[in-house]
Amino acid sequence: MTTLEPVDRFLDQNGARFVDELKELLRIPSVSADPAHRPDMQRAAEFVAGQLTDAGVKARIVPTAGHPIVYGEWLGADGGPTALVYGHYDVQPPDPLEQWISPPFEPTARDGFLYARGSSDDKGQVFTHIKSVEAWLKTAGRLPVNVKFVIEGEEEVGSKNLDDFLSKNRDLVKCDVAVVSDTAQYAPGVPAITYGLRGIMACEVTLHGPNRDLHSGVFGGSVANPCNGLARLISRLHDDGGKIQIPGFYDDVVPLKPEERKAYAALPFDETAYLKDLGVTAGFGEAGFSAVERRWARPTCDVNGMFGGYSGPGPKTIVPASATAKITCRLVPNQHPGKLLVAIKQFLKENCPPGLRLEFRAFHGCPGLVFDSENPFMQAARRAVGAAFGAEPVMIREGGSIPVVGTFRDVLGVDTLLLGWGQNSDNLHSPNERSTLADFHRGIRASAHLWSELAAKA
Ligand code: BES
Ligand code: MN
Ligand code: MN
Repeated sequence: MTTLEPVDRFLDQNGARFVDELKELLRIPSVSADPAHRPDMQRAAEFVAGQLTDAGVKARIVPTAGHPIVYGEWLGADGGPTALVYGHYDVQPPDPLEQWISPPFEPTARDGFLYARGSSDDKGQVFTHIKSVEAWLKTAGRLPVNVKFVIEGEEEVGSKNLDDFLSKNRDLVKCDVAVVSDTAQYAPGVPAITYGLRGIMACEVTLHGPNRDLHSGVFGGSVANPCNGLARLISRLHDDGGKIQIPGFYDDVVPLKPEERKAYAALPFDETAYLKDLGVTAGFGEAGFSAVERRWARPTCDVNGMFGGYSGPGPKTIVPASATAKITCRLVPNQHPGKLLVAIKQFLKENCPPGLRLEFRAFHGCPGLVFDSENPFMQAARRAVGAAFGAEPVMIREGGSIPVVGTFRDVLGVDTLLLGWGQNSDNLHSPNERSTLADFHRGIRASAHLWSELAAKA
């Protein structure tokens, strides 16, 4: 095995420049959901491809029907294993803008954190792998493993065009293991390897009433009100104990293993502090499960937004014409997004209050998954993370979703190492997103060590 000393030294000497380069990427407002940012998507893709090229990786931009994919490869480790690094350069919309302490696309360092949209999800995290590869190639002139990069621009909108790229380019992206840094550590000082993610099923329901907003004094009481009706409909999704009422919803749920329950119970978790930080006075959820279990290993059904009628300042007396709810269900392994989409549509139709017309729209979906936490790649990752973070990583599952991980399993037949350098306090998708600068540097180091650990393992 090549000694890592020169690589580690290179990381120490170039850390400040890495942060400057990351800031440049963070200044590009690559909001995938907003068509107005199309040119920024292209600019971000070009910047990422340029970073890969500067690192010594052969990179190109692959156009898609949506936002471009950046593909890169360094394949000089003859006979060595191949790792496929995946990440995303797109970000969530920055709204509500007025709640940001410093503007979302003006990266600002404060108290050891770097504040900017994308600093943690996922520009700052995927960047660590580009920099570790650069360190190897500029010191040793080679890597201990072959590395491929797929960095997309549509993760935050459901990865619509990525599956197509992967299935059409199976040979190009062929690998032994995928590596994704787009999750979090368990807590500050407690690094983690994530062996399971929840899936998702997203949809929207609109209830239509009268053909226009009506005076609620003149007409109210004579026609069904879509907002009232939507509230009734949504209230039927759960019973008072938080159990989802859609028939068949829990049929395919894989129960938690006793050893998993034991392991989660042993993790440090202060529920009082957790709830206080979130500003709520009580927890909520399915009876019989701990908060950690409910977040990582139990399915949910959440309304993400509801709108209809008048929502401006002061009163307005109308019976609105329509009301809409955006709904997502988080899914656990073995639940099928397509099957549940049919089930929820059926349930909503059957429970639609009389006098209202229901319109249903399906959005994206992906399955939940768990990986064997004992496989040799996981062991290699544990050693790399442990060395760089100075603490043994804990094995966790997480409640978020990364659609492509299921595709890696189903289309490429490989497991994914979910090596998250983030924190749950990073404000992902929220105002004041941030990353811990020390974790950025530790992440680069862990990645650098991962390449030699993976080679040693094979
Ligand atoms: N990086 C997140 C997913 C994540 C965050 C996993 C924290 C585990 C811990 C990712 O960018 C994300 O936001 N995914 C979406 C997927 C959806 C848009 C299909 C999600 O989970 O809502
Ligand atoms: Mn992400
Ligand atoms: Mn995200």
